[in-house]
Amino acid sequence: MPPKDFIHFSLQRHTLPRVIWYNRRHKKAHAVHARHDFASGGRNVTRVEKITLRKYRMVSQDLPAAFDGTTVAFLSDIHHSRSFPLGRVKELVALTNGLHADLVLLGGDYVSHSRAHIPSFFREAAALTAPFGVYGVLGNHDRNTDAELSEQCMRQAGIRSLDNQGYWLEKGGARIRVGGVADLTTATQDLSPMLAETRPNDFMILVSHHPDYAEQLPFSLIDLMLCGHTHGGQVSLLGKWAPTGFMPSRFKLKYLTGVIKNAGTTVIVSNGIGTVGPPVRIWAAPQIWLITLCADRRRTNRSF
Ligand SMILES: [Fe+2]
Repeated sequence: MPPKDFIHFSLQRHTLPRVIWYNRRHKKAHAVHARHDFASGGRNVTRVEKITLRKYRMVSQDLPAAFDGTTVAFLSDIHHSRSFPLGRVKELVALTNGLHADLVLLGGDYVSHSRAHIPSFFREAAALTAPFGVYGVLGNHDRNTDAELSEQCMRQAGIRSLDNQGYWLEKGGARIRVGGVADLTTATQDLSPMLAETRPNDFMILVSHHPDYAEQLPFSLIDLMLCGHTHGGQVSLLGKWAPTGFMPSRFKLKYLTGVIKNAGTTVIVSNGIGTVGPPVRIWAAPQIWLITLCADRRRTNRSF
């Protein structure tokens, strides 16, 4: 019997009812999807129909006890375009807010190629909300389309930039570091703002659009790195293999998708949400990641 997500795309026309699989425990968010909203988008396009929720429990000795149970929603590669119209961006935002994550992180590639899609995307993304805030990096598509406009719209949407930036999140007298680097292929990366005032045993989450940056990290310093860019190959075999000639990574299948342990850092590569090129995904389901941070009980008392 094929897995539930055997084929992740539908050839339904835009006017047919959409069917979006979603974790049944989040019925409220599911209800948002159940409304058939055909408010925007092109006609006669095929569309990805399913979004899967990937859950991961990140256990770390570096995580302060005050942050035990903190949840992080991570979205990447939304690619707002004709094949992922504004109505679906709106649904995605509602779906994400329905997770009630403590922190929302965005991995870039909000649009594909059209400058006109940038303001409209961020007008919808402005509704994303989380107690610790919403942060994001730009992807190669954002930079190639219009980096300045993307940064401006992101700022207006209340989304803090993680491009070569770092922030402290504080709770109960403890703190963790959240930061990011600019895209590997279209910008210059500077990890120093992320590392400013940190100590090696601080819990650190780094967002990088491109997973290959993991290979440049100091050993074991970053606890969790979140990336996108590869789209899980977009068309893959069992989610394990994709034509390496099309893989936008020097390390080919290593960063295809999922959780990769690399030099003491846990790297999570999201399949992303939207598509580039043909709006088709096979064995590379669009994903939202929900990461729960768990303090390892063996952690000794540390303060900053
Ligand atoms: Fe992308």
